[in-house]
Amino acid sequence: MSNKTYNIRTAGEANIPVLGLGTWQSTGDDCVEVVSKALQMGYEHIDTAQAYDNEKQVGEGIKKSGVARDKFFLTTKIFPDDLKFQPEKLKEAAKRSLENLDTDYVDLLLLHWPDDRVPLSETIPALCELQKQGLTKHIGVSNFNIEQIIEAKKYADVPLVVNQVEFHPFIKQSTLQSFLNNHHILLEAYSPLARGDVFDNEIMKEIADKHGVNPAQISIAWILSDKDRVAIPKTSNPDHLQGNLDAAKITLSDEDIQKINTLASSNGRKIEHPDYSPEWDD
Ligand SMILES: NC(=O)c1ccc[n+]([C@@H]2O[C@H](COP(=O)([O-])OP(=O)(O)OC[C@H]3O[C@@H](n4cnc5c(N)ncnc54)[C@H](OP(=O)(O)O)[C@@H]3O)[C@@H](O)[C@H]2O)c1
Repeated sequence: MSNKTYNIRTAGEANIPVLGLGTWQSTGDDCVEVVSKALQMGYEHIDTAQAYDNEKQVGEGIKKSGVARDKFFLTTKIFPDDLKFQPEKLKEAAKRSLENLDTDYVDLLLLHWPDDRVPLSETIPALCELQKQGLTKHIGVSNFNIEQIIEAKKYADVPLVVNQVEFHPFIKQSTLQSFLNNHHILLEAYSPLARGDVFDNEIMKEIADKHGVNPAQISIAWILSDKDRVAIPKTSNPDHLQGNLDAAKITLSDEDIQKINTLASSNGRKIEHPDYSPEWDD
């Protein structure tokens, strides 16, 4: 296997490398190291957020890697605390992220969670403006339901290219996925390893053994078997980086995919969601 992911998925004018490094709960020097190593070994996509309190460390890792900024895709997210989705605050928050990351632009700027307190008619034009001003190449949302995306699209004059949501073999997202496909929005899978639970599932273990890989790799390969998805597995352990990256090159049989498709259930969410969660589609 080569060290490059190469594969990209396209939405709007965004070309997004299919496999990114998640960094939630990567902190301190471990975060610097893992981001640096990931970029050096061929990761072309890093996912962070203001709420992870690690943008500075991600920025240091980028610098330490020596990899040029235009060689990888960088995402951050703005969290709606302190009414940050008000237009002026949104702009300040985006600038702060760029300062923390020590970069002139991100490739993708996401609204981390919906916020009922500020109307999308105000937030979305401001987010679009940030793209036009060059602070971000593309924009999108995270943890939005279908109704919220329909509302957001009314006010967007540039494409919303992703909805980043929980997605792994144990969760149903078929209604949301169909909607996103119809609107040319990629489903960006967070918690793609179900926070490690894929290691305890017999079907995942059986398919992994058959391919001579581990269940995390099978989960990633299954997510990426659909061309309308990208995945951002997190690791702080440099020993897990290569395997997760290589998973983007595993081809599952139709039979493998069908077996994994049987694992989803309505109560398969792994992340405890805050009280401002939307009403989820299934
Ligand atoms: N938009 C949102 O609201 C939102 C919410 C949650 C997450 N996210 C994003 O999505 C990313 C991924 O989601 P996640 O962090 O919730 O969970 P995840 O990627 O499903 O799972 C991470 C867990 O799996 C372990 N792991 C990773 N690779 C492994 C391997 N090869 N072998 C064994 N264990 C392995 C990690 O431990 P080690 O570190 O020890 O490898 C960690 O405990 C986040 O980091 C973040 O960037 C976004």
